[in-house]
Amino acid sequence: MQAFTFSTSQCIICEMGAASRLAEICQQQGMQSVLLITDQGIKQLGLHENALDSFNKTNIAVHVFSDVQADPPESVVLKAIELAKAANVDAIIGFGGGSSMDVAKITALLAHPKCKQQLADIYGINNARGERLPLIQVPTTAGTGSEVTQVAIVTSGETTKMGAVTPLFLPDIAVLDAELTMGLPPHVTAATGIDAMVHSIEAYTSKVKRNPISDLMAKESLRLMAGNIQTAVHHGSDKKAREAMLLAAMLAGQAFANSPVAAVHALAYPLGGHFHIPHGLSNSLVLPHVMRFNLVNAADLYAELAAIIFPDENFIGTTLDISTLLIENIEKLISELGLPSRLKEMDISADFLPTLAEDAMLQVRLLDNNPREVSYQDALAIYQAAY
Ligand SMILES: [Fe+2]
Repeated sequence: MQAFTFSTSQCIICEMGAASRLAEICQQQGMQSVLLITDQGIKQLGLHENALDSFNKTNIAVHVFSDVQADPPESVVLKAIELAKAANVDAIIGFGGGSSMDVAKITALLAHPKCKQQLADIYGINNARGERLPLIQVPTTAGTGSEVTQVAIVTSGETTKMGAVTPLFLPDIAVLDAELTMGLPPHVTAATGIDAMVHSIEAYTSKVKRNPISDLMAKESLRLMAGNIQTAVHHGSDKKAREAMLLAAMLAGQAFANSPVAAVHALAYPLGGHFHIPHGLSNSLVLPHVMRFNLVNAADLYAELAAIIFPDENFIGTTLDISTLLIENIEKLISELGLPSRLKEMDISADFLPTLAEDAMLQVRLLDNNPREVSYQDALAIYQAAY
């Protein structure tokens, strides 16, 4: 067996309504002053109110930073760090989607009293040093899996994204409370759900660090998503479907945190960078086309997932037949979920495809994991197929 390492969060609390006892969880950890990091959308919806109210019965001081933006720029991260230091908090809570959790990860690290590093020092793999403040992550979407990953992404220039990767970003506690996801609108549920599905598919077919635990997580997450993704999108108040999707997204996160994602994400990132297309939707737009490109090397593995993702489909024939039918079913699913399926629907000019392909080729860290080598011409052909 090939040697491997598998890391994940120390403690996972999966419980409907758990956010309303967040203070109790903090108390058990001996925290005295916490900074909750979230965004304006959550603040306006009041999604964090039950969590904040729970602190009224305790002596724990709570500070709130609610200025996180999607694709958070460095300035936002620095403000959160400044607030954590000024308030002298002893713990950080990320409360929101991937962006809030990513800002929380970096704040927990750089606001630690002993930290001597600057933000730019920690970009790259394993460049963060020392300790971080205790960290709790509370996801409010079922998609990114950021509560169990070692990555934080920051927008460092106009469109440039920088990533920091370190085991220090794995939180002490991940709190999965599906009640927080009940009000997510259908298009967000659909796009984030497809993102989670891509995490599992890419983890299962990853070339470099694929391992048996990630395989298990990927398969179980896809089993949970089957049927529940449609229910969560079309019947958002269905608790069982919401719980299944939140757990599935976390399992997918555990899978790809240890068996990393590949060309779907590499080709999706330039769509986010140039056109601010949400991450899940960017993935969805290129997913079937990258899978078709990968068939020559990944058909056997895709075929293993087919009946898990679509248990009602009759998959027969060779692994190539099965995986081709799988891709057709994924295309049908994307359209049933109400997501656009063509790049031209996103106001992207055909002349821009070469720029997208050039940018995708810069995602070397991701392309290296792909089951089939991707050249510039291949990337361009995939974008053209998706157009
Ligand atoms: Fe993703």
